[in-house]
Amino acid sequence: MTEIPNRELLPMTADLNDAGRLTIGGCDVVSLAEMYGTPLYVYDEHTIREMCRAFVGGFGTEYPNSHIAYSSKAFSSPALAKILEEEHVGMDVVTGGELAIARAAEFPAPEINFHGNNKGRAELEEALDYGIGLITVDSMYEIDLLDEVAHNKGITQPVLLRVSPSIDGHTHLLTATGVLDQKFGFPIETGQAEEAIKHALGKSNLDVLGVHFHLGSPLFEIEPYTEAIPYVLELVAKMREHGLNQRVFSPGGGFAIGYVSDTPPPEISEYASAISASVREACDRFGLDEPRLILEPGRAIIGRAGVAVYTVGGTKDIPGVRKYVSVDGGMGDNIRPALYGAGYSVVKANSPAEAPTGDVTIAGKYCESGDLLVKDAPMPDLAPGDVVAIASSGAYNLSMASNYNMSLRPAVVLVKDGEAKLIRRRETYDDLLASSVM
Ligand code: LLP
Repeated sequence: MTEIPNRELLPMTADLNDAGRLTIGGCDVVSLAEMYGTPLYVYDEHTIREMCRAFVGGFGTEYPNSHIAYSSKAFSSPALAKILEEEHVGMDVVTGGELAIARAAEFPAPEINFHGNNKGRAELEEALDYGIGLITVDSMYEIDLLDEVAHNKGITQPVLLRVSPSIDGHTHLLTATGVLDQKFGFPIETGQAEEAIKHALGKSNLDVLGVHFHLGSPLFEIEPYTEAIPYVLELVAKMREHGLNQRVFSPGGGFAIGYVSDTPPPEISEYASAISASVREACDRFGLDEPRLILEPGRAIIGRAGVAVYTVGGTKDIPGVRKYVSVDGGMGDNIRPALYGAGYSVVKANSPAEAPTGDVTIAGKYCESGDLLVKDAPMPDLAPGDVVAIASSGAYNLSMASNYNMSLRPAVVLVKDGEAKLIRRRETYDDLLASSVM
């Protein structure tokens, strides 16, 4: 049987049809490209639901008092919020904008957690007006500000404090958030976390449920979690004498996905058993009641579900050097290769099983030499008009998309059982001008 290369990186429903073309969710990707234009992002509903179930079931089995909250910075859309709600997955938001998307989907407020290192007064007011379940505070200023906002509204707001455990998650420097020298959270090492917890416990309109940490993203290793958990829970135990009654504990997100076939991520069940055991052991060791555990996967829920679909244009073949094949998107819809040196895998959607004839570098259309989506990938021949699909594109591509070069952000379709539903239309020139004041 002919096989699709890197099938494990593509959405779970990826297949070949009788014409030998790539299908996702039963939809022919080349036909989707013709119908909706390119660049196009195709999300597979089945994969999203399966990943939600892997988390809810995986952690639920190991640690029944756990809750999965999708980190909506990875990709945010009202259609996705509806799926999450159906799968019993909550949401975390980091801005009033992400909260607005959740609100547009009428996402249950108690299931939303508001993160971020500098939430504004207006954002906090919006969150409290919506009745948001949890706010994770990140600075002394924010503790004071939120207490004041909550006081003015006559609310006692449940909060977590974000602490920083000085642990390196071995990820890209730009996405490492567990180490001492970075902007998020109260450092434990310096004593600032203790001071912050005492300060928050003294606030009459805050109910401190516990602490949160997030080590970075993506973490291909499990040890950073199991190293950080006892260290942070030891602090929680110590803070009991100051009145901390831990009910919730959150070791954040950061669960990896595969981008290239030689770097596979751990299974969700492996993260679940190691994290659950670590929380249990530490609670036992420090005499703490087992708290409700909140996990915040973003990438691992949505990353594999999405593919970026582009149409091939011109080729520049520099003999003995490199062959560049340009496509009609690039760093405007996926900044990750340029920003983090992120690697990706690409298939020819017209004939994924066709044998490679040489290495090509997939170049974007933006005016920067660094706008390269995939470097030196073995590919069959590509001609203008061919359609390529880049796997693992569901997380942090569109959510970090820009209008650089005044380009239009792509359309998004959700596919399932042979049906495609447009969940975001392609931008138009009118959209580009909508915010201009003439
Ligand atoms: N919780 C907190 C507090 C976070 O800051 C993040 C991600 C997550 C959860 C979700 O992490 P995930 O499970 O998706 O790895 N733009 C980068 C990723 C930045 C992640 C920021 N925080 C990228 O494209 O790789």
